[in-house]
Amino acid sequence: MAKANSAPQGHLPTVRIGVVGHGVVGSAFTALVARQRDVIAARTGVQLEVTRIAVSDAGKHPTRVGSADVVTDALAVAAAADVDLVVEVMGGTTLAGEVIRTALESGKPVVTANKALLAARSAELFKIADERGIDLLFEAAVCGGIPLIRPLRESLRGEPIRRVLGIVNGTTNYILTKMTESGSDYSDALREAQQLGYAEADPTADVEGHDAAAKIAIIANFAFGVHVVADDVSAEGISRISASDIAMAQKFGYVIKLLGVAERDSDTGAVSVRVHPAMVGLKHPLASVREAFNAVLVEGEASGSLMFYGRGAGGDPTASSVLGDVIDAAVNLRKGTHATLGTFSKATFTSPGEVVSEFMLTLEVADKPGVLHAVTGVFARNKVSIRAAEQDGIGSDARLVFVTHDARTSDVQKCLDEFQRLDVVSKVGGVIRIIGA
Ligand code: HSE
Repeated sequence: MAKANSAPQGHLPTVRIGVVGHGVVGSAFTALVARQRDVIAARTGVQLEVTRIAVSDAGKHPTRVGSADVVTDALAVAAAADVDLVVEVMGGTTLAGEVIRTALESGKPVVTANKALLAARSAELFKIADERGIDLLFEAAVCGGIPLIRPLRESLRGEPIRRVLGIVNGTTNYILTKMTESGSDYSDALREAQQLGYAEADPTADVEGHDAAAKIAIIANFAFGVHVVADDVSAEGISRISASDIAMAQKFGYVIKLLGVAERDSDTGAVSVRVHPAMVGLKHPLASVREAFNAVLVEGEASGSLMFYGRGAGGDPTASSVLGDVIDAAVNLRKGTHATLGTFSKATFTSPGEVVSEFMLTLEVADKPGVLHAVTGVFARNKVSIRAAEQDGIGSDARLVFVTHDARTSDVQKCLDEFQRLDVVSKVGGVIRIIGA
């Protein structure tokens, strides 16, 4: 294990940091270290010093930041003799994975914000950290500035957690908020999110739920102590949500949110980890989470419901989480100890068809005698019970909206298959789950 350099700087031991990646988060982190250095030293007895920074394009950066050398060889920074601890905030999975491996194998603690990498390769990286007895910490990888992983990993380690519901992607929450509050359609709201810098030019990772899938996979590991990777998460995004779905949800007293859901069956221990749009009751705590904010609701059997709310992205909030981890890892390094990530058992997954929830379904049908009878017969045959229904005229046709009681996803799917074959049904519209009725 690397030892903190005991060269005195104001008589305190110094932990020398290599920062790999100096974009929005990396530069906010080095600025925050500079601003908080004396406070951190006074509170922890450890002096932090950024000695090396790796960037991909030297032409876009100065050659020094404070007392740190700016270089382009990320792996060399991870291996450098004057680096005791590595902060990986470059993103991507290939080189970033090598940087983390190199640092851990050299006995250096790592702090990373890399959700995609952890959601794919946590088992391998946790194993190296565990074998070496050093820290691998990643609070910033899930919901940026919100402290969530440490509470799950430490405070709630013994809690029988039943379910975690999260608005874990700020871009999609911004788009849905605009659609709800301004009546914008999806493409206008997306364009606005892009103009404001929330959504990327290629918004796929956010709008199709892949970013949220990586985060809820990491959350599920710590909520349930089982091994879950992003490929285990079924993900449906928001690109098919229409202005009329939003309006219909509002009419029934709901707001549509993109949720990451990690749920454990307390009888069988099977878990369901998924991302999908959901209609959230207006009085539910997640309903009031607006714009680009994130929030995670942890439902524990002993603790009751706990809500974690804040900024899920952005330089300063994410740097704040990185810094908290860096301080822990630096103090641990000084003491020759490390945090325990825990052990993760193999997960048993609930089959997607077995997941039970209420649903809202919209159908466009011919407006003539016997149609409602035919449609409700489909629900009855497939054991799906209707809780509420509404009909609107659209010319000579009608739009039928049904809200079901709790139903198995596979039974609802059978209804949809039958509706597609029914002559009187011209269109099967949005099908959205309901949470927090
Ligand atoms: N793109 C993410 C979001 C932030 O919109 O929340 C990084 O995970």
